Amino acid sequence: MRIDIVSLFPDFVAQCAAFGVVGRAVERGLLSVHGFNPRDYAEGNYRRVDDRPFGGGPGMLMLVDPLRASLRAAREADPAPAKVVYMSPQGAPLTQAKVRELAGRERLILLCGRYEGIDERLIRAEVDEEISIGDYVLSGGELAAAVIVDAVARLREGVLGDAESAVQDSFEDGLLDCPHYTRPVEHEFGTVPEVLMSGNHAEIAKWRRMQSLGRTWQRRPDLLDEAALSKADRKLLAAYRAALEAEGSGQAPQDPAQDGPGTP
Ligand SMILES: C[S@@+](CC[C@H](N)C(=O)[O-])C[C@H]1O[C@@H](n2cnc3c(N)ncnc32)[C@H](O)[C@@H]1O
Repeated sequence: MRIDIVSLFPDFVAQCAAFGVVGRAVERGLLSVHGFNPRDYAEGNYRRVDDRPFGGGPGMLMLVDPLRASLRAAREADPAPAKVVYMSPQGAPLTQAKVRELAGRERLILLCGRYEGIDERLIRAEVDEEISIGDYVLSGGELAAAVIVDAVARLREGVLGDAESAVQDSFEDGLLDCPHYTRPVEHEFGTVPEVLMSGNHAEIAKWRRMQSLGRTWQRRPDLLDEAALSKADRKLLAAYRAALEAEGSGQAPQDPAQDGPGTP
């Protein structure tokens, strides 16, 4: 997969992709990240990439033409068609489902804004999709692009080994992941749940599913509304809740008003 970054700081994103599993994917040729700096495509002695907004107001805006030329150069660098994604707080929120969809493509061009953003005409003419990584404002799109590169890369075939497999991760089946434990069995912070050492794979799977359902109910009840819970899931969740109550530490969902159709 090839990901092109159009940014005033393209090395920032490439650096983020140089570590851990993503770094290994780059080394093994499963992913390549290339930068295109609008300043290299700007004209004049000062290679200007920004200007004041019409109508007044604070800050500067990125000019259309250096970005347009950068996007053209990125497109022409490889014959495979590329989707242009503008990293923007006004875009659709990034979800695991969207990450999976992006990971199914062979090419992406991620456009990073700076200052007050980008001249709207460039967005309308050149951008296929706008994506936000959350309801807050960053000073530039590079961190958001780095998030996409990382999340997308780990879903590409061959990037994660079996031991790091993504299938159990949170959001993959609409629920949060279950808790995990490793050695030592006994620790001053607690003991590893016995079932995990039983060797009974069916019981372990059942326990993990119950924990996953319970955690989602406690931490993200909104996800349960969307998840297609089976009858067995509802029973497991009821058992989880009953166990909590029996312990005397029953916790309500974070927002009881959301205790909707996903809960038993
Ligand atoms: C200071 S922001 C501009 C914000 C813009 N004036 C607005 O309020 O929509 C500069 C750049 O950071 C990036 N950015 C900021 N917040 C982001 C977010 N939550 N997700 C993705 N990109 C973001 C965008 O590329 C944006 O052009």
